Amino acid sequence: MAPPYAAHFAPALAARLRDVRVLRDGADDLASAEFVVAIAPPPGQLAGLKGLRCVIAPGAGVEHILSDPDYPRHVPLARLSQPDLRQRMLEYVVLHVLRIHRCSDAYAAQQARGDWSVIWPQKSAPQRRVGVMGLGVLGAPISRVLNDLGFAVSGWSRTPKDISGVRSYAGVAGLRPFLHEVEILVNLLPATAETRRILDAERLSWLPPGASLINVGRGATVDEEALLEALASGQVDQAVLDVFEVEPLPADHPFWRHPKVVVTPHCASAVTPEALAEGVADVIERVLANTPPAQLVDLERGY
Ligand code: NDP
Ligand code: OXD
Repeated sequence: MAPPYAAHFAPALAARLRDVRVLRDGADDLASAEFVVAIAPPPGQLAGLKGLRCVIAPGAGVEHILSDPDYPRHVPLARLSQPDLRQRMLEYVVLHVLRIHRCSDAYAAQQARGDWSVIWPQKSAPQRRVGVMGLGVLGAPISRVLNDLGFAVSGWSRTPKDISGVRSYAGVAGLRPFLHEVEILVNLLPATAETRRILDAERLSWLPPGASLINVGRGATVDEEALLEALASGQVDQAVLDVFEVEPLPADHPFWRHPKVVVTPHCASAVTPEALAEGVADVIERVLANTPPAQLVDLERGY
């Protein structure tokens, strides 16, 4: 957690849970910690905390916690995706789907040239198929909202889903037919061994030529070299990337200045410190009351 953010989060949590002492890594001795809020703890650190009752990931992704070979597997791992996080992700995805759908960049370029022409023909939402990869806590409601906006929506997940108005594809066998029809692809997959570089050159070639990608899941799910090649060939027309294999995105990475790429700094769902404190407090209260937290990570599946 970045220091300025942590500086707001710790007092917000202390104010919300008055009987709980908040310790800060680096400033306090964590040996007595019963709960840890962490994004990427140093390998072995959690195993050393003998009184640990629950680890809390401040977001939805947990890959940097589970990559610790010494993660104490008897300790439950809770993740958060509170309403504030879900709302912000929804806003981000809807913004960019509509921006792509309504040729917003092309009109901006026309304005710069003083060009008064209507881009024609242009599809309406029911003629545009949007695909959502990952139909979990975030992807399922987003697919519903896109459908409510009028888009033709498909979704892909490990297990089949029954979401009204959304065409469901599942598992390895469902990936090709899913990608085959998707013009705007929204990636909301977690980073696991199975999803690593799942969008590689071959899978990107299954999209219709000129499709667009919005990646808000994890950078590790996309082969970045293959994406650059697909952008160069026109197989992928444009990409909106909020997550990257290496974060922060290195200063010399070609994505930064690519005319067909929008880069944002992993902020699609950036929640307020107060909303984070509320989510963390809820987990702590549940564990103290011997009730399972709302979202427990399946350590075997990795999400
Ligand atoms: P969930 O765990 O609720 O959902 C994950 C979805 O991915 C499920 O539908 C699951 O399928 C599917 N999935 C997982 N593995 C596979 C696979 N091998 N093949 C097909 N489908 C698979 O996660 P959330 O919706 O809460 O979050 C999704 C991801 O979004 C997070 O893991 C995180 O990486 C990312 N994220 C990014 C943020 C940002 O700011 N950019 C903010 C928050 C999250 P099934 O339902 O069948 O299990
Ligand atoms: C994440 C988050 O998991 O920001 O990416 O919550």
